[in-house]
Amino acid sequence: MPLLEVKHMTHFFGGLRAVHDFNLSIEKGEIRGLIGPNGAGKTTIFNLITGVYTPTEGEILFQGQPIVGLQPHEIASRGLSRTFQNLRLWRHMSVVEHIKMARYSKLTYGLVGAFFDTPERRRQEEESDEIAHRLMKELGISHLADQIVTNLPYGAQRRVEMARALATEPDLLFLDEPTAGMNPEELVEMMDIFRQVHEEFGMAIFLIEHRLRVVMELCERIQTLVFGEVIAEGTPDEIQNNPKVIEAYLGEEDIH
Ligand SMILES: Nc1ncnc2c1ncn2[C@@H]1O[C@H](COP(=O)(O)OP(=O)(O)OP(=O)(O)O)[C@@H](O)[C@H]1O
Ligand SMILES: [Mg+2]
Repeated sequence: MPLLEVKHMTHFFGGLRAVHDFNLSIEKGEIRGLIGPNGAGKTTIFNLITGVYTPTEGEILFQGQPIVGLQPHEIASRGLSRTFQNLRLWRHMSVVEHIKMARYSKLTYGLVGAFFDTPERRRQEEESDEIAHRLMKELGISHLADQIVTNLPYGAQRRVEMARALATEPDLLFLDEPTAGMNPEELVEMMDIFRQVHEEFGMAIFLIEHRLRVVMELCERIQTLVFGEVIAEGTPDEIQNNPKVIEAYLGEEDIH
């Protein structure tokens, strides 16, 4: 059984067909890529699968269960976590608070535990603390633990967002242009982080990227989306040499 299966998903915004007959199957532990020019419909696909929008047509199965119609937090609690193209971080909250806050959706000590200091609550709090520190270390932000996130440089904020997405220990992680706005040095570091995190936590990743180099190096399979339709799907080599992909990217600056 695939971890995620999307069948014949189509979405209209009014008269605009943003996604047309999209199909996808992601296996456990796989790293999958989605590329395409601006406005192709990539983020819309993430929003449809994560419950932000309900598809006009189509079926989505996560861990074998239909998820169309569920709220984003319900889908997240089933093990699908994401980051956003435009950072969405909380003001006035420190790095470590961000990561621990994300875990509260997962904490199950219940109402009694929330008011009283039960052993189960203490155990879960300790576990959250441990995971937060492990993630900060993994993402190279341990030294920033007590800093207010909105005061940090952009690259560091991206890392915090990723740590937050990982805090719930997802089976599948959606990353929407996680290297956008990064300089070449930060880009190389970030790619190392993806590899490390994937190796250590073993979750599947679905990655939207504008820069072909990033997907080419990281992903086993890639889909190319243009005007809401998949025009090519295959291994990095197949995608790189596909004339339709090359044509779609003509005139784009940061293709590599
Ligand atoms: N909430 C919305 N209402 C109406 N139209 C929308 C909405 N969200 C996206 N669109 C339109 O749907 C199309 C696909 O947008 P989307 O953001 O999914 O593209 P994208 O591939 O993520 O682009 P980018 O690379 O610029 O992030 C665009 O034409 C966009 O204007
Ligand atoms: Mg987008």
